Amino acid sequence: MKIDYRPLCPALGAEVRGLDLSAGVSDELFGEIRDLWNQSNGVLVIRDQQISEEQHIAFSRKFGELHTLQGHTVTKYLHPEHPEIYRVSNKVMNGKPQGRKGAGTYWHSDQSYERTPAMASVLYALEIPPYGGDTIYAGMYKAYDALSETMKAFLEGLEAVHDFAVAQTGGFRNEKITAEQLDKAPPMTHPVVRTHPETGRKCLFVNPGFTSHIVGVSKEESSAILNFLFQHCTRPDFHYRHVWQLNDLVIWDNRCTMHYAVMDYEGLGDRLMHRCTAIGEVPKSPQAAEAA
Ligand code: SIN
Repeated sequence: MKIDYRPLCPALGAEVRGLDLSAGVSDELFGEIRDLWNQSNGVLVIRDQQISEEQHIAFSRKFGELHTLQGHTVTKYLHPEHPEIYRVSNKVMNGKPQGRKGAGTYWHSDQSYERTPAMASVLYALEIPPYGGDTIYAGMYKAYDALSETMKAFLEGLEAVHDFAVAQTGGFRNEKITAEQLDKAPPMTHPVVRTHPETGRKCLFVNPGFTSHIVGVSKEESSAILNFLFQHCTRPDFHYRHVWQLNDLVIWDNRCTMHYAVMDYEGLGDRLMHRCTAIGEVPKSPQAAEAA
C-alpha cells in the first residue's frame, strides 16, 4: 500500500493521512508503518483515527510487549479496565482525576530508568484544549550527529545512571512517591550513546528527567558533561513541536527522542490522552552493538 507520508520538520517528525487503523492492521501494513516511523527519526503522526481502547492496545502491541501494572512506577493513572493504557489528563469527573495532570512536563524519555526502557509510546488524543498543550520532541540522532568527532569518541566510552528518584524533585515533584514505588525502580546504568537496533544509527541516550550522573567521573565532572548534553539536545533545531489535532495518534520512539509536554492550557479546556507503551530492549553501546 502506498501511504500518504509527509515530513513535518527537518530533524524529526512525519505525518501520515488516509489510514484507518480501526479497519485492522495487516502485518504488511504494520511493516510499512514501522519503516516510516524509522524514516521519520522517531515521531510518526497518524491523523484522524477513531479507535477503541482495544484497538489502541492491539495496534500498540504490534511494536512489542506493553507496560501494564509492572511497567509503571506510579500506577494510579492506569485505565481501570485496561492497565495497558496510561491516562494523561487535567480532567476531573465526579471529583476523580481522569489521568495524570501535567504528565511529562519535563524533558525525558519514557521509563529510561528501567533495564529495558520504553521503545514506542503510542499517544491518542481524545480531548484537546482549543490551543496549547503541545508536545515538543527532541531528535537524539541529530543531536549526536551534530557533535564533533572528538566529543563523539569521548561520549561513546561513557555510561550514565538513570534513576526514577531524580523525578522526585523534577517531573514527579507534585506526586507523592512512596519508598515502595522507588524500590520498584532501582537505578539503572545505560550507555550515553546507544546504537538503535532497527536503524543501526547512533544517538544520545541521556535525559534531564531521569539521568542522575555519569559513571566513573567526579560529581562536578558529571554535572558539567550532563549540563552540556542537556543544553545541546534541547537546541530548537533538533526539535519538532506537535500541535495536537483531535484523534491524532502519535507514535514516538523513546530510544532516539526525548519529549516535553507543555502544560500551558490551565483554564482553557480539557486535555485527555491515552498512552500505550511498548517495552524496548537493553540499550547497546556502539561497541556492544558491533560485537553482537
Ligand atoms: C508523556 O507521555 O510524557 C505525556 C505526553 C503528552 O501528554 O503530550
